[in-house]
Amino acid sequence: MPPLLRTTAAWPLVLAWVMLAVVFPASLHGQATPEVAVESPSADATAASPSTGAPPSVPHTVPQGAVMRLAARPPMTPEQRASWVAQLRELYAEAPNLWPPAVVDSSVRPVELGLLPEVPHPSENPFSKEKVDLGRLLFFDPRLSGSGQLACASCHDPELGWGDGRSTSFGHARQPLRRNAPALLNVGLISPLFWDGRVATLEQQAMAVLLNPSEMRGEPAVIEQRLSDVPEYRERFRDVFGDDEITFAEVAQAVAAFERTIVGGRSRFDAFLKGRHDVLSDSAIIGLHLFRTQAGCMNCHHGPTFSDGKLHNLGLSYYGRKLEDLGGYHVTKTAADVGKFRTPSLRNVTATRPYMHNGLFPLAGVLTMYNAGMPTLRRKTEQVDDPLFPEKSPLLKPLGLNRQDLRDLEAFLTSLEEPPLRIRPPLPE
Ligand code: HEC
Ligand code: HEC
Repeated sequence: MPPLLRTTAAWPLVLAWVMLAVVFPASLHGQATPEVAVESPSADATAASPSTGAPPSVPHTVPQGAVMRLAARPPMTPEQRASWVAQLRELYAEAPNLWPPAVVDSSVRPVELGLLPEVPHPSENPFSKEKVDLGRLLFFDPRLSGSGQLACASCHDPELGWGDGRSTSFGHARQPLRRNAPALLNVGLISPLFWDGRVATLEQQAMAVLLNPSEMRGEPAVIEQRLSDVPEYRERFRDVFGDDEITFAEVAQAVAAFERTIVGGRSRFDAFLKGRHDVLSDSAIIGLHLFRTQAGCMNCHHGPTFSDGKLHNLGLSYYGRKLEDLGGYHVTKTAADVGKFRTPSLRNVTATRPYMHNGLFPLAGVLTMYNAGMPTLRRKTEQVDDPLFPEKSPLLKPLGLNRQDLRDLEAFLTSLEEPPLRIRPPLPE
């Protein structure tokens, strides 16, 4: 093995490179002209086009010919960039409902980006401060796992953006799991849950992970007994649920109530939305506009959480290969759902690397893949009639963004970062 491949840190880069080098060239033949904002070169070169996202004087050209790889549009001169920033600052000083319209496919009804709403607590599991405090203790307590070694916080660590910083997590007895641990910030506003959307509520989710033999490997009776042995838990459960018996369902309710209080809203983008327009850099302002227009991100990442709550196929199912993950198909058993994953939130995304359901990509790699329209798998001969062969979302098209554009998009995503959090809850003796 060449030395580079021996360092695991290099793997995501190598994989991303391999995907780009091997998958994309084959996939870009015969692609139609992208539907995302395309400014024709003959358009008035001096007019800004905030409604399409094309900056002034930088026409976006689509190369003709058999290979429809979209050439990066030319970079702006410093003067063009300065004047573009000035225009965007004026437009984005307005309330979000007055911003230039998002550029999305005609099938999509995007909800505007904005400040986070209050997280609703369901009537079956109403909010109380005592319940949330109890749920916080349980979240950090390894007593909930079969081995007594794993807490929710082992894989959802507040100091790591409520993820674990790993490509894929280690489960019970340190067995490697198949998917990346999602960040739990604002999870009370996201549904369905899990990368494949297999559960609807946080209560169901907590039970699922507690019982999963590869993950926490808990057993209801054991968990109930272990917690009942702790005087502080007996007292707290009695205060919250009103009787002496600790049940597994109550454990899940308390944990879910706590999760609904894991909320963000302190990012620079939030400050910007509240009127502090100087907190976004020039690059981030351009990135915000690109995100909403030419880059097409609002097709799926929209609304205050930056997620449409739907599942999409981004071409990352690794169908028929070692890393295969069929995503939504595992849940619905419907061919149309092969390789679909739920759109993740992008709030605080720069703090939760690595990315995607398989945790294989750095942020720059994700943006490069989007720019190339994401990989399109080609059917091998034996797959010609395969009804399960995954179809990439038609919402993804080559974007033709240049390097500066990608840096601007990244600057905008960085403005979604939340201040770091340290939580050290004392566990009961
Ligand atoms: C061993 C690591 C690990 C532990 C321990 C763990 N999780 Fe997770 N969690 C994951 C992984 C991996 C996923 C994604 C799995 C999938 O989508 O199939 C996940 C998904 C989730 C989700 C769904 C988030 C989303 O955006 O859809 C929630 C909520 C969650 N976990 C909460 C918890 C809670 C509560 C606990 C403790 C009861 C817990 N987790 C314990 C690794 C872990
Ligand atoms: C067709 C819908 C769609 C579009 C368009 C889209 N995304 Fe995504 N995005 C997703 C889905 C679905 C995932 C998760 C895919 C997976 O894990 O396989 C994702 C994942 C991501 C991630 C990784 C997040 C994480 O926590 O792992 C980032 C970053 C991201 N998208 C940014 C963007 C940006 C920037 C754009 C615009 C250039 C964009 N997305 C356009 C649906 C979309």
